[in-house]
Amino acid sequence: MQLFLSLFTIIATTAAAIPYSQYILAPSSRTIRPVAIYDQHDVLTSAVALLAGHKPSGQTLLLDAFNSSVTYDFGKNIAGLVNLVVSSQNGSIGITFTESSLWVSSAACDATADSGLDAPLVFDVTSSGSYEASPDKERGAFRYLTVVNLGTAKLSIKDLWVHFTAMPHWEENTLQNYTGWFHSNDEKLNRVWYAGAYTNQLVTIDPTRGDALESVPGNSSANGTLEWSLNTTITNGTSTLTDGAKRDRLVWSGDMSIAVPGIAVTTLDLISIRNALDSLFNLQTTTGQLPYAGYPFNERGIVSFTYHLYALIGVANYYHWSGDQSYLTDKWAGWKSGIEWAVQQIDSTGLANITAPADWLRFGMGGHNIEANSILFYTLNLGIELARIENDNSTADRWARLASGIQAAAIPLLWQPSVGLFRDNETTTLAPQDGNAWAVKSGLVTSPSQVAQISSALQARWGPYGAPAPEAADAVSPFISGFELEAHFMANRTDTALALVRNMWADFMLDDPRMTNSTFIEGYSVTGELHYAPYANDPRISHAHGWATGPTSSLTTFVAGIQILSDAGATWAIVPQLGDLSHVDAGFSTSRGLFSSKWSVHGSVFQLQITTPKGTTGTIGLPLPGNHTKASVTGGGLQDAVAEGDAAGRVWVDGLEGGDHEFLVNGL
Ligand SMILES: *[C@@H]1O[C@H](CO)[C@@H](O)[C@H](O)[C@H]1NC(C)=O
Ligand SMILES: *[C@@H]1O[C@H](CO)[C@@H](O)[C@H](O)[C@H]1NC(C)=O
Ligand SMILES: *[C@@H]1O[C@H](CO)[C@@H](O)[C@H](O)[C@H]1NC(C)=O
Ligand SMILES: *[C@@H]1O[C@H](CO)[C@@H](O)[C@H](O)[C@H]1NC(C)=O
Ligand SMILES: *[C@@H]1O[C@H](CO)[C@@H](O)[C@H](O)[C@H]1NC(C)=O
Ligand SMILES: *[C@@H]1O[C@H](CO)[C@@H](O)[C@H](O)[C@H]1NC(C)=O
Ligand SMILES: *[C@@H]1O[C@H](CO)[C@@H](O)[C@H](O)[C@H]1NC(C)=O
Ligand SMILES: *[C@@H]1O[C@H](CO)[C@@H](O)[C@H](O)[C@H]1NC(C)=O
Ligand SMILES: *[C@@H]1O[C@H](CO)[C@@H](O)[C@H](O)[C@H]1NC(C)=O
Ligand SMILES: *[C@@H]1O[C@H](CO)[C@@H](O)[C@H](O)[C@H]1NC(C)=O
Ligand SMILES: *[C@@H]1O[C@H](CO)[C@@H](O)[C@H](O)[C@H]1NC(C)=O
Ligand SMILES: *[C@@H]1O[C@H](CO)[C@@H](O)[C@H](O)[C@H]1NC(C)=O
Repeated sequence: MQLFLSLFTIIATTAAAIPYSQYILAPSSRTIRPVAIYDQHDVLTSAVALLAGHKPSGQTLLLDAFNSSVTYDFGKNIAGLVNLVVSSQNGSIGITFTESSLWVSSAACDATADSGLDAPLVFDVTSSGSYEASPDKERGAFRYLTVVNLGTAKLSIKDLWVHFTAMPHWEENTLQNYTGWFHSNDEKLNRVWYAGAYTNQLVTIDPTRGDALESVPGNSSANGTLEWSLNTTITNGTSTLTDGAKRDRLVWSGDMSIAVPGIAVTTLDLISIRNALDSLFNLQTTTGQLPYAGYPFNERGIVSFTYHLYALIGVANYYHWSGDQSYLTDKWAGWKSGIEWAVQQIDSTGLANITAPADWLRFGMGGHNIEANSILFYTLNLGIELARIENDNSTADRWARLASGIQAAAIPLLWQPSVGLFRDNETTTLAPQDGNAWAVKSGLVTSPSQVAQISSALQARWGPYGAPAPEAADAVSPFISGFELEAHFMANRTDTALALVRNMWADFMLDDPRMTNSTFIEGYSVTGELHYAPYANDPRISHAHGWATGPTSSLTTFVAGIQILSDAGATWAIVPQLGDLSHVDAGFSTSRGLFSSKWSVHGSVFQLQITTPKGTTGTIGLPLPGNHTKASVTGGGLQDAVAEGDAAGRVWVDGLEGGDHEFLVNGL
């Protein structure tokens, strides 16, 4: 009886604990109909017949002539299999898809290949009734769908819907079952957080629906377009995390370094992360080297120092959020050999000389590159913690020496004091976005003034559409900008960090009419064109890329301030950054239970309510509101205690037990 009661209580608490679900972009049902007409051409009637609000109506869409077409808008990026109910006896129906409104066309889809456009999906109508796309013709991401009459017979279509295929392992009607939430007084930040969460759901796919990476010319009616087929098994299991929803639909460890923390604070979909990581470790060579990307891309034999390290970071992240030590122990031998492969590249300078330069499609990654060395420094430090957990102290000690060697060598060789930024390597003055963001994120730079200098020098380079990556032909990379965002938060330059989220992710990446207003794009140009420097073919750009979701985890970690310090939150810190915000309410669950932080500031008064799981311990870093340097603090055992703020303007309360706590800070 006791057991049943407590189980019931746990379930009831979990279901009730997710507020703000009205912001969730994931559909409540897997059956999705279009919400608006975007465009229509030639002889047709009742385009509205197929809209969501119109069913059931008895009306039909009639496409009377060859090339008559209607373009429907789903209002957000979705994924799935097209279904039609046709009342004509014969004819030919073409369907084209596109994520961006830029590539709406009745002749072709947007693109998945390096050149050209993808062929329409063609339904040859031989009798009235229902038609469904074959499983390999799932379209991984589109907001717009065009129905076109490709034949001479009149077409009559009674119904059209998409069976939503992302998150294949979650049951019907549970796609909105998030474990986390975020709400603030700023709608832009709220929308960005939920769009990041949804982007990561859209890139979580059925592993048998990977891209074949083979393009064959389309059939003769399709005018030079390319056939596409999602027919390749990329991992084991029933779901996997990939990079992009439309393409490449591959496991890329670099992309996971941003997507995994975002998933952890939104859906806690750990199994898809695990299936993806397992697929990379299945490809590890006997020398310890991990692939640039998963199957079938690995067959191209490209080696990447940084993506090798990102696969190791993936395992550390999985352990961090799951607390699953058996998983870590299972991977430990492979993890160690992976580090050994990487540290062999360290030369007499103390830095790694990069000879496997493939990266996030920026070039010139050779030599003593600052990004690669910062990521190595970061991975070694994760390794030191993991080695101690695995009782492997001599390994931890050796890695600690290598890590301090990198730190000691990088600053004298690569720091440019007059610029306030590191250079890419010793033969250039180019100051990369990736290496400078990573130098802060990794903890390689410890001096607060140097961190602040990097943050302000990066900010000084922003253009109207976001933060540039001069190392990649001035692309704007929402991937690397996710690390830059963390660097601004770590510098405690909160207003700068929030400005980047608002300008780049909300005003441009959501609100620009060429975007999907729901998922985040892979890359674009500093001029705001949807051209991404590494690609010749603009329609190929992915509009749902997990690597572009950095703000989701950053808002939870830095603005709500909830930091998991060890396995699944056994220890934690809550250190809110206020910026110009007045209210924030956020939380998430791990296997240990619920973590939440709800705060508000009114003039000189700051209030904070937190919940953390029983059995955990943590620290609170209370901000002093306004510009006060002193405050009276109540909560965590203190009652009107007068305290001085530290250099960063905080009062710290240590050794808190998990549970519910409230704090009141009155600036004095
Ligand atoms: C079909 O219609 C589109 C407008 O939707 C037009 O741009 C295109 O040229 C037409 N194609 C043919 C073959 O008539
Ligand atoms: C197509 O179906 C229509 C009736 O819907 C019929 O009149 C026409 O003959 C059919 N055409 C062919 C080629 O079967
Ligand atoms: C999922 O969410 C639905 C409604 O949003 C709720 O009824 C259901 O209980 C949830 N299921 C789980 C397993 O939490
Ligand atoms: C393809 O192009 C040919 C001639 O260029 C045209 O006759 C045909 O209608 C086109 N088909 C489509 C589907 O646009
Ligand atoms: C997958 O599709 C491609 C065309 O895109 C085709 O060449 C290949 O044979 C297909 N593979 C399988 C296993 O069906
Ligand atoms: C699936 O698991 C088997 C057994 O571990 C392994 O040999 C195979 O490579 C895995 N497949 C993929 C795509 O990772
Ligand atoms: C050093 O950096 C510059 C600027 O990114 C690049 O052009 C050059 O190729 C790099 N050197 C090597 C050896 O990769
Ligand atoms: C890095 O190693 C390559 C290959 O061994 C060598 O040619 C190059 O000079 C080295 N670069 C530096 C900066 O030492
Ligand atoms: C490893 O080092 C830690 C301190 O860092 C110590 O507590 C532990 O006992 C050591 N373990 C072994 C097996 O030496
Ligand atoms: C930012 O604030 C944190 C917490 O107060 C502090 O530990 C850190 O040193 C500060 N960083 C910088 C660069 O000022
Ligand atoms: C974008 O989506 C939000 C909801 O997330 C909606 O309020 C807004 O109107 C949409 N903007 C456009 C231009 O459709
Ligand atoms: C804090 O001080 C800064 C710099 O003097 C000033 O711009 C800001 O308005 C002050 N904030 C408050 C809340 O007083």
